[in-house]
Amino acid sequence: MCGIVGYIGDRECADVLVDGLRKLEYRGYDSAGIAVFQNGKIVVEKSKGKLDNLEEKMAKDGKPSGHCGIGHTRWATHGEPSDINSHPHGNKRVSIVHNGIIENYKQIKEFLIAQGYGFESETDTETVAKLLDYYYDGNPIETIGKMMDKVRGSYAFGIMFRDFPDSLFAVRKESPLIVGLGENENFIASDVTPILKYTKNYYLLEPGEIAVLKRDGVKVVTPENEEIEKEVLTADWDVDAAEKGGYAHFMLKEINEQPSVIKTTISPRIQDGMPYLEESGLTIEMLKNYRRIFIVACGTAMHAGLVGKYIIEKLARIEVTVDIASEFRYRDPLIEEGDLVILVSQSGETADTYAALKLAKERGATTLSIVNVKGSTIAREADIVIYTHAGPEISVASTKAYSVQLSIMYLLAFEIAYAKGKITKERCMELTKQLVEIPDRLSEVLVLKERCQFIASRLVNADSLLYIGRGLDYALSMEGSLKLKEISYIHSESYAAGELKHGTISLVTDDMPVIAVATQSDLLEKTISNVKEVKARGAKVTVICKEDAEIGKDVANHLITLPVMEDVLMPMLAAVPMQYIAYYTAVLKGCDVDQPRNLAKSVTVE
Ligand code: F6R
Repeated sequence: MCGIVGYIGDRECADVLVDGLRKLEYRGYDSAGIAVFQNGKIVVEKSKGKLDNLEEKMAKDGKPSGHCGIGHTRWATHGEPSDINSHPHGNKRVSIVHNGIIENYKQIKEFLIAQGYGFESETDTETVAKLLDYYYDGNPIETIGKMMDKVRGSYAFGIMFRDFPDSLFAVRKESPLIVGLGENENFIASDVTPILKYTKNYYLLEPGEIAVLKRDGVKVVTPENEEIEKEVLTADWDVDAAEKGGYAHFMLKEINEQPSVIKTTISPRIQDGMPYLEESGLTIEMLKNYRRIFIVACGTAMHAGLVGKYIIEKLARIEVTVDIASEFRYRDPLIEEGDLVILVSQSGETADTYAALKLAKERGATTLSIVNVKGSTIAREADIVIYTHAGPEISVASTKAYSVQLSIMYLLAFEIAYAKGKITKERCMELTKQLVEIPDRLSEVLVLKERCQFIASRLVNADSLLYIGRGLDYALSMEGSLKLKEISYIHSESYAAGELKHGTISLVTDDMPVIAVATQSDLLEKTISNVKEVKARGAKVTVICKEDAEIGKDVANHLITLPVMEDVLMPMLAAVPMQYIAYYTAVLKGCDVDQPRNLAKSVTVE
């Protein structure tokens, strides 16, 4: 969703802002703009479409020159993507950029119209800009404080006042914002990626705190202007992590990073060959006592939860319910003290997952978040957090974040199973050892890219596709199907293979390719029967299975075979060919792989 950057320092501000916005492109956007102090005036440039459009416009108009400014990539919520609706908004006295949604903007707008204000855009943001102007009395902190009292909703704001050309202001509630701390230069940004090439030091701005940035320092204050002591954090992502590093797309790079990020994620959580989650505050005693487990998340993260359900139930024999966060929050779920609610989120900012977290806490459950972005809202507000160490995931389509989420699900499943006495220490160590081997096995799977590219070439003209599987393979195929549809725009559905006969098989013709995931030995025969059923109806079938699976030559049109591991661990390997297939299909179709249409990386609105 929207991205914010702000800069004050010696560099040419417009360049820093546009470069920073490029680092935030992955969040998804449909227009962009900047505002820069030039000779004491606020000069705004904005444009519908990609940053290239903005740069072209600035090349024509003359790029604003100055050393302090704010920039924004907009993902439209109120009003279509257009030059007028793009941020920054404001007037000669004040200019703002905003990420979030102002719930009571209509009332504020009516109030301001009654005071004689006019509006150009359809956005909720413009009302806040004009409200700041209305309250402005020469004291920016007081003005921002009054605005915060009046405005309801989620926000992160970067703010400039014409009377303070040597200061930038920022404030947030629910939407993320960090303050980057450089040498004689300071930054604001929606996450750390825009600042990494200048500094690794930053503050996390807490809700209600106002940051005042000057060239030579940053002050964080309350709306009452009391100074707040802030902890300086250090980003552990390096600059290269946010660059493509020679790959054609971030998605391809991130698929290939999976062995290393899985290693980085699991290594610190294994001690003496056993899972070790105590550093996160999760003790064996606690794991022994939870009565029920809920896993709540959205999209790919929810799919990781589905795999988690199968493995936790299988190994630890405890009931696990997986919920889509946007459903969970409104279905009055039966959760109570003694339950463990696991929230899974790459960004740690997903609005529905955050709402689910708050609900679970209200009902007295213990909350555990599995999150990739350090210091994000969901990470900070859960009782316990386990960070995945995927590094920045820039491609909108999640790949490496999914794999590291799975790897944490495995550690949890093993440890809960052991804590509850469902597996012996030896078995737990054996499973953990196999998990440690995954990065090596994955490197063997990553070489299958040409095979997957070939299969993609057979799918590229399809209008619709079916993924089928049973058990863990079904859970996994849901992710395969989502990956394909979100980036290649080919409709696809994932179906429990045994359920096809109850309706869906009527869709199968020679125009509907099928991808069957068949990695589970005990279900292989059953899945292969389903494969034969669809093949008999004309479908061209790709089967993803273990190298040693005994499948008749004529059963599948195409086979992708994977190194042999224990069934329970196969999803870690089988995810990769599905990611590759989605990727190459999208590339062949000429789609914008890293920034698919209509999608945003961090979904901070309901
Ligand atoms: C799909 C994808 C999304 C996210 C979902 C949740 O590739 O990335 O489905 O998984 O929007 O986002 P997070 O994990 O940030 O909560």
